[in-house]
Amino acid sequence: MMKAILRTRAEEEEVDKLTSSPITSKDLSFRLVKVVTFLVIFVSGMVLGLAATAHVTRYFTSSHHELFFSPIHVAQVSHEEDCLSITKYKKEEDCLNLKSFINPGHLTHSMTDDELLWRASLVPKKEVYPYKRVPKVAFMFLTRGPLPLSPLWDRFFQGHENLFSVYVHALPGYELNVSRSSAFYGRQIPSQDVQWGSVTLSDGERRLLANALLDFSNERFVLLSESCIPVYDFLTVYKYLINSAYSFVDSYDDPSRYGRGRYSRKMLPDIKLFQWRKGSQWFELNRTLAVNIVADDKYYSLFRKYCKPSCYPDEHYLPTFLNMFYGSMNANRSVTWVDWSRGGPHPATFGKEDITEGFIQSIKNNGTTCSYNSEQTLVCYLFARKFAPSALEPLLNLTSTVLRF
Ligand SMILES: *[C@@H]1O[C@H](CO)[C@@H](O)[C@H](O)[C@H]1NC(C)=O
Ligand SMILES: *[C@@H]1O[C@H](CO)[C@@H](O)[C@H](O)[C@H]1NC(C)=O
Ligand SMILES: *[C@@H]1O[C@H](CO)[C@@H](O)[C@H](O)[C@H]1NC(C)=O
Ligand SMILES: *[C@@H]1O[C@H](CO)[C@@H](O)[C@H](O)[C@H]1NC(C)=O
Ligand SMILES: *[C@@H]1O[C@H](CO)[C@@H](O)[C@H](O)[C@H]1NC(C)=O
Repeated sequence: MMKAILRTRAEEEEVDKLTSSPITSKDLSFRLVKVVTFLVIFVSGMVLGLAATAHVTRYFTSSHHELFFSPIHVAQVSHEEDCLSITKYKKEEDCLNLKSFINPGHLTHSMTDDELLWRASLVPKKEVYPYKRVPKVAFMFLTRGPLPLSPLWDRFFQGHENLFSVYVHALPGYELNVSRSSAFYGRQIPSQDVQWGSVTLSDGERRLLANALLDFSNERFVLLSESCIPVYDFLTVYKYLINSAYSFVDSYDDPSRYGRGRYSRKMLPDIKLFQWRKGSQWFELNRTLAVNIVADDKYYSLFRKYCKPSCYPDEHYLPTFLNMFYGSMNANRSVTWVDWSRGGPHPATFGKEDITEGFIQSIKNNGTTCSYNSEQTLVCYLFARKFAPSALEPLLNLTSTVLRF
């Protein structure tokens, strides 16, 4: 690229000289040949330079840098189109390189849900990876729009860039406005409308899981919302999840009309009443379970058809499906704390005046123990909800003390 530009300058000077000096016909043809030669070299230099830059941009920089180089961004798109079209395929472009397969740099894609879920369900048969795989935790945010607590999450993520990935499912058309240095920058996935209480909410959860599965380094998958906060530092959370033999999905048998009462006999013979479970939607899954969930059509389609208000698929599908097939892999509890003690259909929301060191400490550890692998631990919850935007400032104020990040 530099060479091409330097040559351009030299060539311009040559052209200037050509127009200002007396000309003989021999001179003219000689100079014409020279000019043509320079032009050919210049144009091929440009083409090579552009191709090389597009290549470099595609493979070695993250999507964060694209906006700095908008003309190259255009070149990059056409390069990708070339790669996908067999007729234009050029061997030297290495379209089938491993890097973009194991971790697609772009989160944008034009796959339909069917195509996406199919692709996400692919599992390598070989047990050994042909690269150094550092397992990551995928933090998946299901939100309508803004993420007012993102500055707290950014503080939490800071310094651990190789150990996590962030995915955001917002309503279609919503564009998250965060700074370029934020962990949320450029992390929105292609989304669809989500209606709380309907099956579209579970569709959104599966869409998040599927997009996160495309990165082969993601090992654990946490569902979060805009009102969730982390209550421990990143490494504590990371180790807790990565080293857990179980996934954390709330799953219990509720004999009341809010539990078994929502079961439909139309799900017979595939789902029986005794298999029916309920639980909070805020799940944490390991990769094996995540794959099995995006791969399931049979049971999910029964929920789509027969679990309608007052049955809510987001409260029943995962707990029931895991209970039926993967019960022994589930801790049957959620790692996301929530306060239902005030009663009513919605849990308590905490704002500015609620945030104290003592309150956060009681979420982290209130003396109750939980089982973790084969032991008992005082650490039961890694995340908590629901927190109002006004809680951000006092929470940031606690990062150096009780939150420790
Ligand atoms: C995005 O956020 C910045 C900083 O908070 C603000 O100045 C800007 O107006 C916002 N842009 C949009 C489109 O909301
Ligand atoms: C969770 O519940 C299942 C039944 O669905 C049970 O088999 C499993 O042992 C439970 N997990 C733990 C850790 O107790
Ligand atoms: C996920 O957990 C199950 C059991 O809890 C385990 O058998 C499986 O190996 C785990 N998957 C991965 C990819 O670690
Ligand atoms: C601690 O928290 C758990 C779960 O939120 C709750 O069930 C229990 O009652 C609490 N214990 C105390 C002593 O507050
Ligand atoms: C931040 O914490 C200090 C003490 O640690 C307290 O004096 C101050 O009022 C707090 N500020 C906010 C906004 O909560």
